[in-house]
Amino acid sequence: MSFARSLLATPKMLRCPSGHIRACSSSVSLRQNLRFPGMMQTRRFSISAVRYSPGTPTESEEIEQEPNPAHVDSYLASKILHPEYGADPTLEEGLTRAREDGLPEIQVSPLQGQMLSVLVKSMGAERVLEIGTLGGYSTSFLSKSLPPHGQIDTLELSPLHAKIAQENFLASDLFPFPRIHVGKALGTLKKLKIPEEGPYDLVFIDANKDQSLEYFVECLRVLRKGGVVVVDNAIRVGRIHPDSKLDSTIEVQGLRALYDWIEADGGKTVLSSAVQTVGAKGWE
Ligand SMILES: C[S@@+](CC[C@H](N)C(=O)[O-])C[C@H]1O[C@@H](n2cnc3c(N)ncnc32)[C@H](O)[C@@H]1O
Repeated sequence: MSFARSLLATPKMLRCPSGHIRACSSSVSLRQNLRFPGMMQTRRFSISAVRYSPGTPTESEEIEQEPNPAHVDSYLASKILHPEYGADPTLEEGLTRAREDGLPEIQVSPLQGQMLSVLVKSMGAERVLEIGTLGGYSTSFLSKSLPPHGQIDTLELSPLHAKIAQENFLASDLFPFPRIHVGKALGTLKKLKIPEEGPYDLVFIDANKDQSLEYFVECLRVLRKGGVVVVDNAIRVGRIHPDSKLDSTIEVQGLRALYDWIEADGGKTVLSSAVQTVGAKGWE
């Protein structure tokens, strides 16, 4: 709500005294490593995915009772989306291309994508790593927010998804142009070298959740001290709570493993937070 608008209007509000970002929407962590000077410091935070749904109501639809999160998402989008970011028509065209090729519509919402842009820009990031490309929607927000000499690498399992993403990047004339690494992300990650210009400033993890912990730990190796890790879909409609009566999926188990790791770390390596979000697709 007003918080999100403030972030957009005054990105400097995100900065802590040391110039590092400390907050976002769903869960946030800062890797500190205070006791291990040889290791890099990392921050991880994750935004819970409130995915954009084609069924999101428009403002013209009648709201019979109180507005729900989908109505509010729609209202916020109408007020906040920037013509060169969330309201860029080439991004919508990319979603159409992906839909026509049968890709699942599980990308971040426009508001979430623009939140990524705010984060990248406010921390002055130059190098970004993404795990989970799909059709390149979130990748586009990340790329658009980098300086021309920046670098963005994105990891994707599906050759079809990678192909559509590549077409979308070309159609949007993105610069820096995202490098897509096709294959199982964990294998790619283990071989990934720290860029010559320096480690990554921000990592966005948005692939299969059962390997969330493995991705997170491996990312720390290539992330700069003070860098940020965003982990999407951190709540799973509340199923991450151990008392949930619903079946525990491998996705839920993967996220719990990550939270257990953060707990065991005791703040030595990361400073984390989690903020639950709701939106057009509910509580994610
Ligand atoms: C939620 S989608 C990514 C959405 C994208 N970040 C966006 O918001 O536009 C997850 C993607 O991760 C990919 N994926 C799933 N398992 C993977 C794996 N083991 N390695 C790499 N990518 C994987 C899927 O093919 C899918 O394209």
